[in-house]
Amino acid sequence: MSGAPWYLDCDTGIDDALTLGLLVAEGADLKGIGSVSGNLSAAGGARNTLDLMSLMGRADVPVAVGAHDPLGDEFHGVADFVHGANGIGDVELPRAGEPVAESAAEMLVRLAHEHPGALRVLAVGPLTNLALALALDPELPSLVADVVIMGGAALVPGNVSSVAEANIWNDPVAADLVLQASWPVTMVGLDVTMDARFEETHRVELAAGGAVPKALAAMLGVYFQYYTPILGRPSCALHDPLAAAIALGTVVPTSAPVVPIEVDATDGPGRGQTLVDLRSRFVGYPPQPGTRHRVVLGVPEGFGDELLATLLRLP
Ligand code: RIB
Ligand code: CA
Repeated sequence: MSGAPWYLDCDTGIDDALTLGLLVAEGADLKGIGSVSGNLSAAGGARNTLDLMSLMGRADVPVAVGAHDPLGDEFHGVADFVHGANGIGDVELPRAGEPVAESAAEMLVRLAHEHPGALRVLAVGPLTNLALALALDPELPSLVADVVIMGGAALVPGNVSSVAEANIWNDPVAADLVLQASWPVTMVGLDVTMDARFEETHRVELAAGGAVPKALAAMLGVYFQYYTPILGRPSCALHDPLAAAIALGTVVPTSAPVVPIEVDATDGPGRGQTLVDLRSRFVGYPPQPGTRHRVVLGVPEGFGDELLATLLRLP
């Protein structure tokens, strides 16, 4: 398990909640968590994060409320048809704690200066806070070890449009700024997350665990309702948890080439498309100098089983 200090940026919806469970169960050194609007409002995501972290005994991790609106746009509303009206499958957790006064962007900049060259960033929602942090401190990329995002789609269709994945589509301007910055970004997109699944058997076993696994299993009811007609059987896609497992190193990609990645930041039909240049797979097209991002195109089978075993370790 990576002993590095982490900043997590999330829009605590249901797969974000599973990710919080994974990070806590794996003992990740979470220095701070920022919320961003996406699945629900940044304020609602912070509430869910605070309540779940307290339920897991990790109320010590500070939570900051991040950007409500995407850059140059307005929050598009709660994705209640996927995550429920409250973002976590309409499960009511005991309310616990309050967010800190600083914004998520301010927290990220502060942590980068407190852990220069060591802080790792995991972003599993729209990238608005990371873009705002870059504006606050242009030196940020030199202070951050690396960034891992759940977002994008390289060789597969999108989920909110034929070409765009939700986190990128929700704030393509921010995603463009994040990918233009000089830090290395690992893109964990729909190419691998759509095939990382929880089946009904996983959900039933999770529900037989302790209080935290039970709460996470209860959240999955709404999430399964959304994914079952898409996937053709009672199951769901494990987008954010897979990105977290790759970030922690507990899942090692079978394919993750170093490639240029651009974003269509227009508001046309291509909005939010991640344009991944894979020409360097041919020896005649060596990577251009400065190419630093990776796109994950393959992971081993069996992540659902691994995630279940990890989450069942929670109390
Ligand atoms: O497209 C999947 C992503 O959008 C996940 O991060 C999910 O939580 C939503 O934010
Ligand atoms: Ca998310």
